Amino acid sequence: MKIVHTVKEVRETINNWKKEGKTIGLVPTMGYLHEGHQSLIKASVAGNDKTVVSVFVNPTQFGPNEDYASYPRDLKKDAALCEATGADLIFNPEPEEMYPDRFCSYVNITGLSDALCGKSRPIHFKGVCTVVSKLFNIVTPDRAYFGEKDAQQLAIIRRMVKDLNFPLEIVGCPIIREEDGLAKSSRNTYLNTEERKAALILSKSIFAGKEMVENGETDANAVVARMKEIINSEPLAVIDYVEMVNMDTMKNIDTIEGSVLCAIAVKIGKTRLIDNFISIENTPASTSGE
Ligand code: PAF
Repeated sequence: MKIVHTVKEVRETINNWKKEGKTIGLVPTMGYLHEGHQSLIKASVAGNDKTVVSVFVNPTQFGPNEDYASYPRDLKKDAALCEATGADLIFNPEPEEMYPDRFCSYVNITGLSDALCGKSRPIHFKGVCTVVSKLFNIVTPDRAYFGEKDAQQLAIIRRMVKDLNFPLEIVGCPIIREEDGLAKSSRNTYLNTEERKAALILSKSIFAGKEMVENGETDANAVVARMKEIINSEPLAVIDYVEMVNMDTMKNIDTIEGSVLCAIAVKIGKTRLIDNFISIENTPASTSGE
């Protein structure tokens, strides 16, 4: 497995692979990889001849008071995980490689980006869509893999790929949880022992909400109210949002029908964590822009 830092090096490798007729999977990440990322890499290795993992903490998706500087980084450990999982190439650019002097072109998806995380992180999805578009253009993958934990991000990327005719397939992969239920996240490392215990309130409320829906509850507000009640029972938890939205529009719903996303963001101490469940009616496993 190779680690490269420039666009030129990625393109050279990809060109050689394409000449040999190889298919390419891309797993975009910000590094500090865990079993959630590993499941994406595994899916890519299983579905493609070659797998590229990008490891780049993308400055444009962090707000001024967010954790860009302190976001955990460990390329050595990431490389070991990628190699052990069968990846072929890590692309680990410096910020200047992705955003050279006078950079001023951004990709902004309106509407879908205004809801949920977009409300409390107004520039976040513009940064995500910009860097993901750049990665698609640099790597030109056949498939790209994203986790369902960032369900709004996945919905936005699916939309972007359709709207902008990116010739690739987006594959969503299920949330991977710790044994006690907490959704895996690089940010879990910020939690001290007391906060780590308190963070279980997220998955507890998600499982309770999911059970209500599975038992036939169709009143979205009743599910949200119960989930908020559970989260508020934890003194260290501060709710950013608990919402049920239509999967395609990200607009709030009153009645649970069709494909619905129930998403939460909760602060435990200084750490903002997200989790969700999806109630599906014909949600595609993959989307193509072709
Ligand atoms: O989900 C992430 O880790 C990031 O938002 C992504 C998709 C790698 C873009 O920086």
